[in-house]
Amino acid sequence: MMLTVTQKNLLLEIGRDSVRFDEPMAAHSTMKIGGPADAFVVPRDIETLKAVMRFAVENEVPYITIGGGSDTLIRDGGIRGIVIHLREGFNRFEVSREEGEDVLILADAGVSSGAVTRFAAEQGLSGLEGLAGIPGTVGGNIITNAGTSLGWISNAIDEITVVDRQIRELTMKKKALEFSYRHLRMPRSTSVVRALLRLKRGDKAEIETKMNGLLEKRKTTQPYGQPTLGCTFRNPEKGGKHGSSAGALIDEAGLKGIRVGKARVSEIHANFIINEGGATAKDVEILIGLVRERVKEKFSVLLETEIHVIGEK
Ligand code: EPU
Repeated sequence: MMLTVTQKNLLLEIGRDSVRFDEPMAAHSTMKIGGPADAFVVPRDIETLKAVMRFAVENEVPYITIGGGSDTLIRDGGIRGIVIHLREGFNRFEVSREEGEDVLILADAGVSSGAVTRFAAEQGLSGLEGLAGIPGTVGGNIITNAGTSLGWISNAIDEITVVDRQIRELTMKKKALEFSYRHLRMPRSTSVVRALLRLKRGDKAEIETKMNGLLEKRKTTQPYGQPTLGCTFRNPEKGGKHGSSAGALIDEAGLKGIRVGKARVSEIHANFIINEGGATAKDVEILIGLVRERVKEKFSVLLETEIHVIGEK
């Protein structure tokens, strides 16, 4: 659904200079792919965010909140409705309080996870080691429960604050949240606005060693710094005949380096798809389909995507 002129003017009144129309989403994707969003809003504060969400709900305009664009494939036809990007206005974090050995950090959803992780390392705070080198924002990493074998962001969550479709600001304790592998159960119409992270005082050198080790591993075993969306597929259930790494399965199926258009399966880690420059979302989706088909044929394992796909074809 396209926005009418009246709706555009209303949205401009609410969001002022934080609203842009026909924004190319490729600029907001780590893979540099994505057609235009009808409207793109970077709310400067929570009141503006709520006003934009209220406008969308009342006018039946679809909306979606995005983070760092590191886990979402945006289709070439772009996004109808409003994309809310929590960045400026939602980019602060601070030590909130201390409880014995615990240090609680309050972080806005738009803060890059890297900034909080580096701060934790500098301060000798343990709990975010597994996030070293992970792109994206705190909000995005929470929704996708980002992490590695060294730990997930959910391990460090004490509580999160969201704004839901009824425009209620709700704070939820960790025990009320259903985190699982690369997932948090949460309606897509709910925006995470901040999180309280519970970290522990630890040994600074030990924390730094762990983080540096992980970073080095990522740099040698993954196409670090290239235009990708991270791992494309979720690892299949453990205990299967072929182990649990989707990357290893794709590799064993001989698919490293295969291309559709300008999208290529990485030669470094087969669970990554690279945009060689000018790849379309269609290229990526066809390549994903091809990989699933070949892995299914060879190993009888149906891979599920870890990346989220949004927008119009
Ligand atoms: N392997 C291959 N070929 C490949 C890729 C991997 O043989 O092309 C082998 C490796 O040699 C290793 C095994 O598969 O023996 C496991 O590989 P790795 O340690 O890279 O772990 P992974 O299961 O493939 C997971 C996460 C990554 C995360 C790493 C490190 C998923 C889908 N992937 O990968 O997460 O960085 O562990 O902890 O859970 C992401 O979610 O975006 C992501 C990259």
